[in-house]
Amino acid sequence: MVGKYRDLHRLLLWRQLGGGWQPQSAFASPEQPLHLEIVFVNGEYLLRQALQRPQHNFLGLELHWGSVRRCLRRLAHSQVNNVRLLQADARMALSRLLPDSCAESFVALFPCPWPKREHERYRLFSRAFMAHLNRVCRGGGLVVTDHKGLVEFALAQVEGSGLSLSVVEVEANYDTKYERRWIGQGQQWFYELHYRPVGPSGVVKMAEVAGNTLTCQQFDPTGAHLQGSHHEVVVEFRNQVYDSERKIWMVLTTVVEDDLTQSFWIEAALSAEDGLWHIRPALGGGYLPTVGVQKALSLVQQSGQQVETR
Ligand SMILES: C[S@@+](CC[C@H](N)C(=O)[O-])C[C@H]1O[C@@H](n2cnc3c(N)ncnc32)[C@H](O)[C@@H]1O
Repeated sequence: MVGKYRDLHRLLLWRQLGGGWQPQSAFASPEQPLHLEIVFVNGEYLLRQALQRPQHNFLGLELHWGSVRRCLRRLAHSQVNNVRLLQADARMALSRLLPDSCAESFVALFPCPWPKREHERYRLFSRAFMAHLNRVCRGGGLVVTDHKGLVEFALAQVEGSGLSLSVVEVEANYDTKYERRWIGQGQQWFYELHYRPVGPSGVVKMAEVAGNTLTCQQFDPTGAHLQGSHHEVVVEFRNQVYDSERKIWMVLTTVVEDDLTQSFWIEAALSAEDGLWHIRPALGGGYLPTVGVQKALSLVQQSGQQVETR
């Protein structure tokens, strides 16, 4: 893929990161201090920061591929090497991927205000999100918004996160797509929300599990009777395929837990070495090792007749 995205090395695929990921390891100079930019859209502020501060590393979090793609192109043109991008829901990345105190600061410019009351639940910067930002970023951070309602929401949410919040009214200062948009609509004053750590976050990174391969002595791929689960962790089994020559059976599995939905293939393969069926996520698809993934493996194992754990 020469051209548009030729510098794909800046893109991190979170399903491929595995357990215990350390974000510094993704950078050419891992010893440099790390900063997060959440909702970077086309990445113009991210790039300016990276160019102005080459002795620092920057990790961008953004949900939509269109924005990530535009940012990748921008970064490729400038050839900066101190930026990496995660296309992910920032809430999931903060609660499940980023370890304690791995970053110095965060910034989020003009996040969606979700002005309608019934949409408030979509707002970032809830108490839980702020607590995770406090857990991950040693030095607090900055949110900039045009929207008074979002400022009030942020003030109401900060208590219990271990952060303090002070709000300053400022003129346009960031020269980003959305700042220019609001200026174009006549807005002159914006709000800077300065968050500072004042205590413990009170939250922990959500548990990863070791990702054990399970085994069973007997497994009948043609007669496997799989039952999903619909409790705290929802597991749904869908398409199955069986390679009878190589004795590899696979089932497409969806696991839903809290803020995370993952779809991946689980394989059961008969090992010539020990004569057991080995049950694990199939290689190549990528998944985050969670309690839910392990639950799905156990359900497959239970559909075998004799149960053993390696
Ligand atoms: C208004 S734009 C941000 C404006 C941009 N920073 C600027 O100053 O021009 C909001 C962005 O937030 C992203 N977004 C919304 N929810 C998100 C989430 N949960 N995680 C990551 N990005 C999210 C959207 O994809 C969208 O690109």
